Amino acid sequence: MKDKIKNIAVFTSGGDSPGMNAAVRAVVRAAQYHGVQCYGIRRGFDGMIHDDIIEMNARSVRNIVNKGGTILKTARSKEFRTIEGRTTAYNNLKKRNIQAIVAIGGDGTFTGVQIFSQEFSIPVIGLPGTIDNDIFGTDFTIGYDTALNTVVEAIDKIRDTASSHSRLFFIEVMGRDAGFLALNSGIGAGAEEILIPEQDRGVDQLLASLEHSRNSGKTSSIVVVAEGNNEGGGVYELLKEVDGRLDDYDIKVTVLGHIQRGGAPTCTDRVLAARMGVAAVENILSGISGVMVGVRNNQIQLTSLDKAIKQHNAIDKELLKVAQIVSI
Ligand code: F6P
Repeated sequence: MKDKIKNIAVFTSGGDSPGMNAAVRAVVRAAQYHGVQCYGIRRGFDGMIHDDIIEMNARSVRNIVNKGGTILKTARSKEFRTIEGRTTAYNNLKKRNIQAIVAIGGDGTFTGVQIFSQEFSIPVIGLPGTIDNDIFGTDFTIGYDTALNTVVEAIDKIRDTASSHSRLFFIEVMGRDAGFLALNSGIGAGAEEILIPEQDRGVDQLLASLEHSRNSGKTSSIVVVAEGNNEGGGVYELLKEVDGRLDDYDIKVTVLGHIQRGGAPTCTDRVLAARMGVAAVENILSGISGVMVGVRNNQIQLTSLDKAIKQHNAIDKELLKVAQIVSI
């Protein structure tokens, strides 16, 4: 029979997202609830290599449920790509008898932790923490709902000034290679056009749509551009493409940038993080490994890390249609 797990560790890695703290809190408290010691690895894989590991308990995660960012910090680690780095990391876990890990992050985090788990036979469970919502195996990632609301709030403000000055605004939204954040925030904020990598509408169609908006009596317009849009390079590349063809518009550009990653998590993200954190600990203690905890149709669901990394959620065609209809 396998040894009972007595010590686990949790860390956050990759781009931070609002709700990561709520997830760390849930993992630490679920571990304590089940009589297990939880360690926190600071600065992700880098901290694992450089022995930046702290003992945690229910009180060390007090007053963080409402905080953006991650108290464990995060980093991107080149050293962890080497076997030497990963061996040092493993030895740091071993000397504390850490027998399993919970990794909170995106697909880069899952790739690193999966290799590590296979090399050193250490159980791992992943939690999807990213504002991009681009992870297969879950309807929502931790931080996505907060980022959506941040983007909508920002666009609402831009709408006020766009409307007052009768301007055309191009607004760049994050999401890496995925358009979920752009599409949903664009619908929520009432954008005239939403350009996402999953749908190649082409510049001619954009120009035709703006012309149609103007002819139908609109005096200002908002175009949401996913940073990974098909022109490559975000909003400025798109503007190069339309250069000279929008001369009679008063155009302004806003790149929302890292404001989208910060701020207090919404209640939806806090509850998601709490559910996922508890599920991660309970599954790892029952001997499960190599999976990501997701939520599908409001039920906890486990997906192999392999699938979570390699497969991709498709954009909902109904949303594309809705976006088009409500923006006429
Ligand atoms: O994955 C989250 C994310 O914010 C993406 O939307 C964006 O492309 C990227 O991280 C930015 O990364 P960095 O903070 O390293 O510039």
